[in-house]
Amino acid sequence: MRVAMIGSGYVGLVSGACLAELGHSVVCVDRDAGRIERLRRGKIPIYEPGLESLVGRNVAERRLAFATDLEAALRGVDVVFIAVGTPPRRGDGHADLSSVWAAARSVAATLDGPAVLVTKSTVPIGTGDGIEAVLRELRPGLDVPVVSNPEFLREGSAIGDFLRPDRVVVGSDDAHGHQVMRALYAPLLHRGARLFETGRRNAELLKYAANAFLAVKISFINEISDLCERVGANVLDVSRGIGMDERIGPRFLEPGPGYGGSCFPKDTLALARTAHDHGMSLRLVEAVIAFNEARRPAMARKVLEACGGALRDRRVAVLGLAFKAGTDDIRESPAIAVIEAIQRAGGRVRAHDPAAMPHAADCLQDVEFAATAEECLGGAHVAVLVTDWEEYRRLPAARLRQLLRDPPLVVDLRNALDARELRRHGIRHVGMGMPEERLTAPQELAAKAPVPVRHASAPLAAAMAS
Ligand code: UDX
Repeated sequence: MRVAMIGSGYVGLVSGACLAELGHSVVCVDRDAGRIERLRRGKIPIYEPGLESLVGRNVAERRLAFATDLEAALRGVDVVFIAVGTPPRRGDGHADLSSVWAAARSVAATLDGPAVLVTKSTVPIGTGDGIEAVLRELRPGLDVPVVSNPEFLREGSAIGDFLRPDRVVVGSDDAHGHQVMRALYAPLLHRGARLFETGRRNAELLKYAANAFLAVKISFINEISDLCERVGANVLDVSRGIGMDERIGPRFLEPGPGYGGSCFPKDTLALARTAHDHGMSLRLVEAVIAFNEARRPAMARKVLEACGGALRDRRVAVLGLAFKAGTDDIRESPAIAVIEAIQRAGGRVRAHDPAAMPHAADCLQDVEFAATAEECLGGAHVAVLVTDWEEYRRLPAARLRQLLRDPPLVVDLRNALDARELRRHGIRHVGMGMPEERLTAPQELAAKAPVPVRHASAPLAAAMAS
């Protein structure tokens, strides 16, 4: 099939390249001529493992092309995707749909025959109706079903997510729309991918609901993690134990510094705003938004407390700037807010990230960037691990011991490091949702396992004693 993808950003580029990989003939269009020029030369503007070779192969095999001329790109196409950005609108948190409307108007003005118009961008409920109205107004005779086909790609594993999806969601109120989308995704469906067909408004809302649910799940375990610290329980076991219940499931139950990225913060906010517009409050979602925002300063306080309440002129090594491992994206990254709060408390920050340093350098001030994790750690009073890159997990405890100043301290906001191993090497490890175990004296090393300092909260201990 012939496909045009309007918008060659993250979603458009990944989806376009993957649809080409499925055998379709795809043109990715963007109004940014510089971006298109670079793409033609094989320069991928985003960090996404495997994307460069996927694009290269499909361009070489002539299934994928890049263009700025929309009119030419739309000639004779079967499916037109709108995959432009929908960032939060300044001031009110609603999704800014100006690029979506502009794309719909361009399609109305230039489409030369029957096709299906598909929104891939995350758009609020009712946007498909609006696009239909634009088409009807500008081209009354044009018969173009408007379909919603939300994407669920995660940064860092987007290609796998597209080619081996949990489900493909297609929302259409038009039988022909469904038929064309079935043909488009046939290569995936033949490999066993699940197709979920529903109405257009359901598909639009479902995408927001999925992201909001995951944001709730993460925030829930973060709150339980805080409770574990108070009562002397270990969140890793609590999380594992509840995740064994198939109704809950083990994923997205890892405590951390709060969710970030371009989707969860924006989509939870937009969903809450949509509800307000319809006269109701999504109290659970609103609580999650507030909790997640408060988590960043809370993480900085955790560092401050671990340092005995004094950060002034302390050298703080921050490991990780991206909002999660596997991406160079720092949008809504907890690391940025945590660094700024540490600086306000007087700490001097040196930071490292395997991918995100160029972006972070544009938005952080008075931060030294280190070329390697070891350089970042050298001579620091405290190491704060914010993003769980694999290379940090593999840092040998003995080396950490050598690099950090005495007394060595690591605040591990992802529970990425082996707490016992660190303590065995005399490093104090402050993790998430786990009682701090006392450091093991060298002579005890082989003798016995470390003993928890806090067995129970004060009230519980009192109750047990009575
Ligand atoms: C998300 C959705 O997963 C995806 O379906 C949607 O299309 C876009 O938004 P992404 O933003 O790439 O994808 O990241 P994801 O891997 O979902 O992680 C989101 C945030 O949650 C990150 O900040 C991550 O660190 C955090 N997280 C995730 C946790 O803190 N704990 C977890 O257990 C899982």
